[in-house]
Amino acid sequence: MLSRTEEDRIREEREHAGGARAAVSEALMVLQESRGWVSDEGVAEVADALGLSLAEVESVATSYELIFRRVVGRHVILVCDSVSCWVTGYPEIIARLQSHLGIGLGATTPDGKFSLLPAGCLGACEQAPAMMVDGELFGNLTPDRALEILARLGAGEGR
Ligand code: FES
Repeated sequence: MLSRTEEDRIREEREHAGGARAAVSEALMVLQESRGWVSDEGVAEVADALGLSLAEVESVATSYELIFRRVVGRHVILVCDSVSCWVTGYPEIIARLQSHLGIGLGATTPDGKFSLLPAGCLGACEQAPAMMVDGELFGNLTPDRALEILARLGAGEGR
């Protein structure tokens, strides 16, 4: 069941977007911000709140990669694997991140702290290679810089 705050925020998003269909992705983000991810139940709740069919909301939820459809870690690292990032260093960066975190792509560390997920173009091709951590974009990465960014979030502590 949607909380009062979630309901209010979804209503605001609907008004701001000018209609239910235009507000789907933002409404899903409202849920994700409060719950960390969007379950099947959450998709149904958003559909209900917006007066749309389950299929309409589900199609947005599954096509928008910033919507997480399963439990993720407290920090989510999205690493762009599209062409500009691939040719400017993605393979080395992802290899270093996987080795440092001790997890594969698509996984979450056993302590629930980090999820490492693939992403399509993050819209920062001119700064490739790029990644997004907790919604913040980082470009011009090197393997060392990627680890420095994670170190600020405590990656490597207690491991
Ligand atoms: S290709 Fe990586 S940000 Fe566009």
